[in-house]
Amino acid sequence: MTLQSLFVTQVYAARLQQARAPLNAQLLRECRQLRLDDAGGRRWSAENYPGGYTSYDSASRMQDRSPTFAALAHRIDRHARAFARALEFDFDARKLVMTDCWVNIMARGVAHGAHLHPLSLLSGTYYVHTPRGSPGLKLEDPRLDRFMAAPPRRRSARRELRPWVVIPAQAGRVVLFESWLRHEVPVSRVPGERISISFNYGIG
Ligand code: NI
Repeated sequence: MTLQSLFVTQVYAARLQQARAPLNAQLLRECRQLRLDDAGGRRWSAENYPGGYTSYDSASRMQDRSPTFAALAHRIDRHARAFARALEFDFDARKLVMTDCWVNIMARGVAHGAHLHPLSLLSGTYYVHTPRGSPGLKLEDPRLDRFMAAPPRRRSARRELRPWVVIPAQAGRVVLFESWLRHEVPVSRVPGERISISFNYGIG
């Protein structure tokens, strides 16, 4: 008998740098400064990201606005290329281009509902600041709407067989996934701000 894993969903996670590294400290300062400076983003967030701040609508190409973010993008590029190789895409992975890069700040009580990243190839998040107990990134099995009469999985089911998997949010680490993979950030229940930088890649 053979048991085969087919149509696998791959998710990439890696340490990009130490949380105490100078680049991370500078990113943290700039994320907080951006929120202070970005009145339009604060207004947009009040309607679309209640209790939190995101520059998704107002400053969505931070890699072009700040040398610090450009340095981060340069480091993430290497991981995006490695992920594209692992996915065995039949294209020159060197043509992968970061198309968007924005800041997210979540306080206690803030959640980010399930969504996809349309018009992109790869997406991901870099964690800048994650108070202990911060929610992780909850990923959903893309076949969930096809399960029909399938019974639920055992609570003890292996990770790769579960319909939802949470990737922990840890400062200094980066997570990458294919942009069609639905994901959400459950509500934050801890004091302090969870600060992350999300991004998309396309083919340049
Ligand atoms: Ni997202």
